[in-house]
Amino acid sequence: MSADISTRIIGTGKYKADGVLTNFDLEKMVDTSDQWITERTGISERRVASKGIATSDMAAEAVRSALNMAGKTANDLDMIICGTVTGDMPLPATAALIQQKIGASNMCASFDVSAACAGFIYGLSVADAFIKTGKAKNIAVIGAEMLTRFMDFEDRNTCVLFGDGAGAVIVTADNSSRGILSTHLFTDSSLTGALQIPGGGSLYPASEKTISSKRHYIKMEGREVFKVAVKYLADAAEVAIRSNGVTVDDIDVVAAHQANMRILSAVSKRVNIPIEKFALNLRYYGNTSSASIPISLDEAVRGGKVSDNNLVLMIALGGGISWGSALIKW
Ligand code: UT7
Repeated sequence: MSADISTRIIGTGKYKADGVLTNFDLEKMVDTSDQWITERTGISERRVASKGIATSDMAAEAVRSALNMAGKTANDLDMIICGTVTGDMPLPATAALIQQKIGASNMCASFDVSAACAGFIYGLSVADAFIKTGKAKNIAVIGAEMLTRFMDFEDRNTCVLFGDGAGAVIVTADNSSRGILSTHLFTDSSLTGALQIPGGGSLYPASEKTISSKRHYIKMEGREVFKVAVKYLADAAEVAIRSNGVTVDDIDVVAAHQANMRILSAVSKRVNIPIEKFALNLRYYGNTSSASIPISLDEAVRGGKVSDNNLVLMIALGGGISWGSALIKW
């Protein structure tokens, strides 16, 4: 790594899916209530992409918007990294489809990163390494998910939680003291079974049986994930703060993966960062997995909530169980 190269985020963008599915709509579909969903998760509604829109369409729109803010064009990109577990298709990479849609050149290496809800932080960490080693100059990092296409709308344990959307950032090689200070990635593989879309891969290839046994839908042992989420997210926040020699009081904005308000409130108390510093939109988007951090970051940036030289802490956790953090001097 070169000490004099920093990785700066110079543009953010998002795609907000058109459809809105409220808790009251869900009350008509499964045995649930607005009260249960609001109290147990903090979600009131989630966005649902229109028929015919694919994950790469949402992602391309988010990248165009981020490029516009960055003052760059698709041809300036030498890499596209897309964090997703709900890509357009198993092959090719969704990032390649995004490259095609935005019209980036053949010199732009494009690939996906699979780390579920932590996919954006994993992608950002990969981008940071490419930039700091001088192997890339301008990279689009995306979190894009179409979770409603993988949801069993008869399973109240999952169908009330997730939504669709995409967010993106443009990172560039810079020689200022601003940019990504550090990233930290972890995986606890003892919990691989707690969050899965089991069908459609090499273990359970698509068949009539995988369809009738609903193996192409998202399955989550919510309680199991909840048990580790607060500790792992708080630990990831603390390692980012500690390794940069700053204190919790120095953190200006937290862009956290948003799965459940109860998790975020507990993390806020545990690490002692007021919840008011968290960029929150869970209530209106639901859990958008890898898209949740870049969407909320874009809204915070455009809403004037992130200023130059602010310290922005990112934390995320999802299937794997994979989690991580990043600390950025804006
Ligand atoms: O983003 C990736 C990472 N994912 C997460 O971080 C998610 C972590 N987990 C969670 O956020 C929570 O575990 C959930 C929101 C998924 C569930 O909340 P919970 O408080 O852990 O509920 P539970 O699973 O322990 O279920 C409590 C009760 C059960 O009924 P019984 O067995 O006590 O009679 C469930 O059947 O709530 C019932 N329940 C519901 N009731 C009404 C579960 N889902 C619903 C529902 N409406 N939608």
